[in-house]
Amino acid sequence: MPQAWLADTRASYDTVADSYSDLTRDALAEEPYLRAALGLFAELVHVAGGGPVADVGCGPGHVTAHLHELGVDAFGIDLSPAMIDLARRDHPGLRFDVGSMTDLPLADASVSGLLAFWSLIHIPDEAVPAVLGHFRRVLRPGGTLLLGFHVGDGSELKTQGYGGRPMKVLVHRRRPGQVAAWLGEAGFAVEAQLLLGLDQPLPGAVLFGVR
Ligand SMILES: C[S@@+](CC[C@H](N)C(=O)[O-])C[C@H]1O[C@@H](n2cnc3c(N)ncnc32)[C@H](O)[C@@H]1O
Repeated sequence: MPQAWLADTRASYDTVADSYSDLTRDALAEEPYLRAALGLFAELVHVAGGGPVADVGCGPGHVTAHLHELGVDAFGIDLSPAMIDLARRDHPGLRFDVGSMTDLPLADASVSGLLAFWSLIHIPDEAVPAVLGHFRRVLRPGGTLLLGFHVGDGSELKTQGYGGRPMKVLVHRRRPGQVAAWLGEAGFAVEAQLLLGLDQPLPGAVLFGVR
């Protein structure tokens, strides 16, 4: 793992894994728009014939498990071994593996859908095209990509979070147009976007792309 930012991100999420899991375990119940986006994602995967779906940067696996409840053959990958331990503990019937989206440990054209929910936010701009290249490489033709991210400009060094635990992780906010442009350059057709929390200090966006 040569990049310092990647090592810092992994150590940070190892440190907060317990508290992040406690804070997010039931979070989707309060997020009707995210549940709708996940429902649409599940439907698109089904309509395209089903197949495995990777939740990349899955954290403690609550979104992976939600997709599974929607009938999706979902599995999770995360940089943080502590997150993966928790995901395996809380969702013993599902598959979770340690891995980085910067060197995605999946075979070419092996998944029908790929989700990256608020995990690309830790990838610096210069590394995003290569990560999107991995996403395209592992998706089957016609496969759906779902990205969720913080909307805005600039980056913040987060030094604590999730119960006040110490972190050292860069959080990159992005304009949906910038992310859509990167997706286009990576070979995705951007089919839809949903803007979230427009009245909140840190809005979000969800983009649907098709390989
Ligand atoms: C803000 S959390 C989001 C977790 C989950 N997707 C959710 O929606 O709650 C960011 C997650 O991305 C993971 N992550 C960060 N960089 C990653 C990378 N290069 N590859 C895989 N996972 C990564 C972190 O370990 C962490 O679990």
